[in-house]
Amino acid sequence: MCPIRRTAIAMALTVLLGAHSVARAAADPDTRAAVIVRQMTPAERLALLHGIMAIPFVGHVTIPPDAVYGAGYVPGIPRLGIPALKESDASLGVAYVNGLRKDGATALPSGMAMAASWDPQLLYAGGAMIAGEAAAKGFNVLLAGGSNLMRDPRNGRTFEYLGEDPWLTGTLAGAAVSGIQSQHVISTLKHFALNDQETDRHSYSADISDSAARESDLLAFEIALERGHAGAVMCAYNRVNGAYACGNGYLLDRVLKRDWGFRGWVMSDWGAVSALDFALAGLDQESGAQLDRQVFFGEPLARAAQQDPVYAARVADMDRRILRSIFAVGLDTHPAVVHPIDFAADGAVAERLERAGIVLLRNRDRALPLSDSLERVAVIGGYADAGVLSGGGSSQVQGPGGPSIVVPLGGGARFAPAIEYQRSVPLQAIEARLPRAQVVFRDGRYVSQAVQAARWADVAIVFATQWMSEGHDVPDLSLPDGQDALIAAVAAANPHTIVVLETGGPVLMPWLQQTAAVLEAWYPGARGADAISAVLFGDQNPSGRLPVTFPLSLAQLPRPMLPGSGGMGPQYSDRGSPGQTLHVDYDIEGADVGYRWFARTHQQPLFAFGYGLSYTRFETHDLKVTADRALSATCEVVNTGSRAGADVVQLYLVSAAGHPERRLVGYQRVQLQPGQSQRISLTVDPRLIAEFRDGAWRVAPGHYRWALGTSALDTGAPVDTVLGPRQIRP
Ligand code: BGC
Repeated sequence: MCPIRRTAIAMALTVLLGAHSVARAAADPDTRAAVIVRQMTPAERLALLHGIMAIPFVGHVTIPPDAVYGAGYVPGIPRLGIPALKESDASLGVAYVNGLRKDGATALPSGMAMAASWDPQLLYAGGAMIAGEAAAKGFNVLLAGGSNLMRDPRNGRTFEYLGEDPWLTGTLAGAAVSGIQSQHVISTLKHFALNDQETDRHSYSADISDSAARESDLLAFEIALERGHAGAVMCAYNRVNGAYACGNGYLLDRVLKRDWGFRGWVMSDWGAVSALDFALAGLDQESGAQLDRQVFFGEPLARAAQQDPVYAARVADMDRRILRSIFAVGLDTHPAVVHPIDFAADGAVAERLERAGIVLLRNRDRALPLSDSLERVAVIGGYADAGVLSGGGSSQVQGPGGPSIVVPLGGGARFAPAIEYQRSVPLQAIEARLPRAQVVFRDGRYVSQAVQAARWADVAIVFATQWMSEGHDVPDLSLPDGQDALIAAVAAANPHTIVVLETGGPVLMPWLQQTAAVLEAWYPGARGADAISAVLFGDQNPSGRLPVTFPLSLAQLPRPMLPGSGGMGPQYSDRGSPGQTLHVDYDIEGADVGYRWFARTHQQPLFAFGYGLSYTRFETHDLKVTADRALSATCEVVNTGSRAGADVVQLYLVSAAGHPERRLVGYQRVQLQPGQSQRISLTVDPRLIAEFRDGAWRVAPGHYRWALGTSALDTGAPVDTVLGPRQIRP
């Protein structure tokens, strides 16, 4: 039925039955939203357009009795059956808002860890799990779906995101959002867009051409939106090509709403609104409004709407968009009901993700898995006797009982004043696996003491950490607190040194060649220790693949120096100098983010995107790529080793229309028994091989080359396909 006719019928029914019941009876969310908007009084029309940060002591606000302490609250309109929006941060679990709520939540492993699983189904399960916990606490909107690409591994929020590739990030973020919304909880996608560093995050300008943005960071959001149908998009703090992301007509109106047809609403990041006319650029809702200079989308917007039909039309559109998502996701029909949480079941979801996301980076002479018959083991460093590391900032989750240890930072850290560890203890998990062995722990503060233990032990396991947080970037990629020297000394003392990394993202490894094995465990989440020990002892065959490239040195990056880091201001700075805009030139690498930059500049990184070892062996062969309107590929993957395990089949474009290229165009995780083989079919999204020029995707005719890879930079024999003019249309 055409939309106009539907609306007419709904309006007629409204007259007969009253707005509220018709809105529920009407079939689709667009019609229902349109009907309700017509019923709203001028005051009601303003109600949904600005919210508070639901935390006492932040600004001058009264927290309404029905609010839940969390990132945001927007009052409902009971007369019209519209529920209040109760918003929580949720990148990696339901956030704990500086300890205001003591109810505990299950911490998922970090975004990097989840992305390293290359498994959309697991991300869906993780999303559904968080949404279930959120609803159990009374929330119905989750500020999740972080989809920014890693343009700089020093970005303090790297751990919240899903990597450096638009297809991997987009498909995984879409799955996570679908999982959240399956529980009748709205999810955002954030931070839109090009919000790729924390230094000066409130003011820097990401400068980039339209085509480069569309083929990289924006493409990740576009894919995530198509797959996950997020009810809301959160615009970012930074500027893009000079204009604030939350007041950026190009980003919000043109790309998101016009070109992609987004029908939900755009909410601001907290404290990101600095002018009323952001409404005209496409911003629909001012979040945490007490953080802004004034509540622009309150009285000032009401006055503007009275005087100016353009503003009045926008107000109706803003309401319609918010209501549409409320109805589409079913917030009104499936209200959140507070109930107890099954932490054991939810912890199992977190553990499954971490098991799948741990990446085996090095395994000299099959040093791993460890044998059950070890007699003397030295566990060193990383607070492995107390817990596993978590990242800081608004995404911080605290499990039931709170963190196991808290390490205060000092130095003016605003966002996250302390480093927190989850209650999942690697030392205990290792001891449980070796009941007859002697296991000693050394905290690693004194290298000589760690070395002494390493000399004594059959195996030394060093836990090394790199803490990251929202609000500040790391200055470089070394392991802090002298851990590089500690690892080198321990490895020199014992050739069977295993390093377990708990890092936010890539780090440098000057000691790599001295070690026997290295596991990247990221921030391991609520049951991280169990997952790590399962991989160490071979109960779990490692199957994670890097979602980001680890450089050999900072000199290999497009910007060897972190933009904005040159001054001598405060140690932790997310705010630049007043009145000055830091311009970050993203056109240096353009769309060639991460591994594509390394391929373009012919540099060999430490570990490339897609890399990861296993305790078994896989072979892929018989790649065929066909172009018959759609582009599809098939290949065979075989487990030729002696253990069951999962491989991730990765298909890359290696040249396009005669030009060298490097793009992930398809992937699939496959679980195989020893000797088992499976035929894989992948459909290639044409945008992944296209260029975005003059407002449209174009696939140039010519020879295209494809190859399967064990990483983006280690690909096998290529196969060719010839694409005729307009044969493949994005
Ligand atoms: C962060 C967002 C978060 C919001 C609400 C901001 O500082 O950038 O990711 O959702 O705070 O806590």
